[in-house]
Amino acid sequence: MKRSIDEHAARFDEYAGDYDEEQDSEEYRACASLVIEYADPGPEDVVLDLGCGTGAIGLALAERAKRVIGRDISEGMMERAREKAAERGLENVEIGEGSFREPDVESADVVVSNFAMHHLSDAEKRAAIEVIAGLGPRRFVLGDVTFFGTPDPEEPFYSPEVDDPATVGVLADALTDAGFALTAVERVHEQVGVLVAERAGDRSPTDRTESV
Ligand SMILES: C[S@@+](CC[C@H](N)C(=O)[O-])C[C@H]1O[C@@H](n2cnc3c(N)ncnc32)[C@H](O)[C@@H]1O
Repeated sequence: MKRSIDEHAARFDEYAGDYDEEQDSEEYRACASLVIEYADPGPEDVVLDLGCGTGAIGLALAERAKRVIGRDISEGMMERAREKAAERGLENVEIGEGSFREPDVESADVVVSNFAMHHLSDAEKRAAIEVIAGLGPRRFVLGDVTFFGTPDPEEPFYSPEVDDPATVGVLADALTDAGFALTAVERVHEQVGVLVAERAGDRSPTDRTESV
């Protein structure tokens, strides 16, 4: 992580009021739509949205899921997500503090994360993916700044001073090592992608948490 959790939280607290308006790029919208589409929760599913921000993904899934849990480190972003949930009359959404390493959640059927994991170093992403696997989801959909080719700070979505995106290969390895099978990879942009991982085999949540 290039900045500490507190530094990221403070940055997003400041940004929270303007965040939604500024997410106007075609690629952000395409990535968010794909994450929502692939998450595809059923009416009995508990969905966990990690790095939920102002709720772009979690709130969009709430009408189809039994419950949506949003976790983030920025109180400002979470406050906006709660306001939006109330405005939309969504009563099955719970937003609270939690990080990739310590989401403060027991289990989830579907885990989603959009444009958030790139704040972690590759080693931290690997650890976070193990934590996610330990929650026992049947599916994890990750949309993020992700390198399909050579990293290029001149291209959008990558600011080396704050971001630490992984290559698709690093993420694919971490997902399969954590017991997922990679079932889809969508390239939205040279530096933005969506990875869909489904639980493979019968590795139990206990087996998975042992290696965290
Ligand atoms: C670019 S926003 C994305 C928000 C939302 N997922 C979306 O698609 O619009 C990144 C979010 O990740 C959160 N974040 C950054 N580091 C985190 C961490 N270690 N654990 C949980 N959330 C984190 C930030 O606070 C911020 O709300």
